[in-house]
Amino acid sequence: MATTQQPAAPMESLENWEEFLEGRYQEGKSEDEFRQYDKEANPSVAEFYRINHEQQTVAYVLGKEKEYFGLMRGKKTIWEAGEYLNTLVDDSDPDTDLTQMEHLLQTSEAIRRDGHPRWMIATGFVHDLGKCLCLYGEPQWGVVGDTFPVGCAWSDQIVFPEYFAANPDRNVPEYQTQYGIYEPNCGLENVHMSFGHDGYIAEVLKNNLPDEALYMLRFHSFYAWHRHGAYQHLMNEKDRAMLPWVQKFNPYDLYSKGHTKPDMKALKPFYDDLFAEFFPGKLAW
Ligand SMILES: [Fe+2]
Ligand SMILES: [Fe+2]
Repeated sequence: MATTQQPAAPMESLENWEEFLEGRYQEGKSEDEFRQYDKEANPSVAEFYRINHEQQTVAYVLGKEKEYFGLMRGKKTIWEAGEYLNTLVDDSDPDTDLTQMEHLLQTSEAIRRDGHPRWMIATGFVHDLGKCLCLYGEPQWGVVGDTFPVGCAWSDQIVFPEYFAANPDRNVPEYQTQYGIYEPNCGLENVHMSFGHDGYIAEVLKNNLPDEALYMLRFHSFYAWHRHGAYQHLMNEKDRAMLPWVQKFNPYDLYSKGHTKPDMKALKPFYDDLFAEFFPGKLAW
């Protein structure tokens, strides 16, 4: 690892990570091609993952769960949460001037166009509201990026697995076995995932949406699982039943972002009704 090279600058924008994902899972691209593409074409994304993989330890995750999963950050409606997320200054991309909320609407509108159930449209809108963690002061590497279980051996299906060499959990033998701190087939809901916007939004909405939706929220960045088939040994029956739904959601997350501004004014009545159906009033964040 010793090098005299200067580390790459961190990502300018959270959207750099999403563009990277989109490139990684471009149709027709082989695994080898995207591994090459990874480091050379994306030094700042690689640097972002280097820090993420080094810092997301069991102790870090348990600390953040304690800090946020009690939902003591005030009450907001879904619209208010969207407006709050819009205050995130994240505008490094000069050819789009879409707000965070417009990006969310593109996802939900693509789901709606394909005739999916109303709960899934709602899920499309809310799925990235957890990025408000950035506004609470959490670093990029603790908000976005692929997620993965902590407390057991890291799969080599996680992007940039070599960066786990610097994670202090490497030196905790209990965390380095296949099952680590978990029982075989304990179910992914009982696994501590690396901390980020996915787990947080699932906690916020856990009483408001069906299990299929909560899996889409909680695991949408768990690519090693839903894209690469890793961690079967931790899965239970419910996980197996929910996996196809997470996979159904993924293309909307990856490919629905365009440069056309959704017409907020025209869409608002539909979403007012939709949110009233699933999220009555203010939610604890
Ligand atoms: Fe996301
Ligand atoms: Fe997303």
